[in-house]
Amino acid sequence: MSKVSGTPFGVTKKGEEVRELTLDNGTISCKIITFGATVRTLTVPGRDGAVDVVLGYDTLAEYEENGGYFGAVVGRYANRIAGGRFVLNGKEYTLARNDGPNHLHGGNVGYSHRVWTVEEAGADRAVLTLDSPDGEEGYPGHLQARVTYALEGSALSIHYEAVSDRDTPCNLTNHSYFNLSGQGSGDVLAHKVQLFCSAYTPAGETSIPLGTVDPVEGTPMDLRVPTPIGAHIGEPFQQLVWGHGYDHNFVVDGQPGALRPAARVCSQATGVGMEVETNSPGMQFYTANFVENGRKGKGGAVYSSRHGFCLETQHFPDTPNQPGFPSATLKAGERYDQTTRFRFFLLEG
Ligand code: GLA
Repeated sequence: MSKVSGTPFGVTKKGEEVRELTLDNGTISCKIITFGATVRTLTVPGRDGAVDVVLGYDTLAEYEENGGYFGAVVGRYANRIAGGRFVLNGKEYTLARNDGPNHLHGGNVGYSHRVWTVEEAGADRAVLTLDSPDGEEGYPGHLQARVTYALEGSALSIHYEAVSDRDTPCNLTNHSYFNLSGQGSGDVLAHKVQLFCSAYTPAGETSIPLGTVDPVEGTPMDLRVPTPIGAHIGEPFQQLVWGHGYDHNFVVDGQPGALRPAARVCSQATGVGMEVETNSPGMQFYTANFVENGRKGKGGAVYSSRHGFCLETQHFPDTPNQPGFPSATLKAGERYDQTTRFRFFLLEG
């Protein structure tokens, strides 16, 4: 069904061909590879010219071998499920424990490590699909996922859809690491971040939510006014110590299901600002804490911890085991529908 689009981007270890699609609307442009439906570059206007604002790699082998999920779509369940198990409709399901004692980002071969099919490739829009069989990585139901990347003015919009023939947990997100000063330009500690989030879900030592939804007020998690990422990251606040920095699920203010502002981040160095809107209930703010020093990136870049930040719009982590959280069960025959928009703008002055 899919015609050949884009340009070759290598062959996986299993022998599958990977392509790269280029989207460009004259204002912003990006490159998407079919491995993981990954955003490999995202170039936006800066004060002194175009800036590539996402971390990435030059080769497919690095995407296959390196951890960190750079730019990828993650699923079937983004983030963690405690103990790699959950009960749904009275039946227990067992998943891979690929992050200490827990399941992370869909398991050993999550959607980030599968080759997606190109359904449509236009100048400013690409649609990629993935067929996820019943029982894949332990999840129930044959799930068909569809991700649409669209350039809309100065925004990259990502629309996630999925249908399953059995009830299943479903939580799809994009794991881009942003650096608005330009990928490879060093740490993001001077970026000012603002999260439109009055509460967060505190987590234990292995990043599993404790089950409460706590106000950010009076803690270093309070980022409701523009704050340098580095201002409080090193404070001896238990959550930041356990997370090795920010790696927490924030509750996006307003009504889940409605597209509403979730975050705004700015770099004074390039004048690039980014606004995130989503209809998801939550968002993981992660400061690349586990990117080791000296990791080789695109075009000779060298990355390290804190050289990017992720804003992973999502259902709350471990929802399948947390009855108090908004449900992340995709019912058989219903449609999963998630939209996140990353809009770029130039700071005044
Ligand atoms: C998510 C998690 C982090 C880490 C990264 C990938 O953001 O919350 O703890 O696992 O993915 O390295």
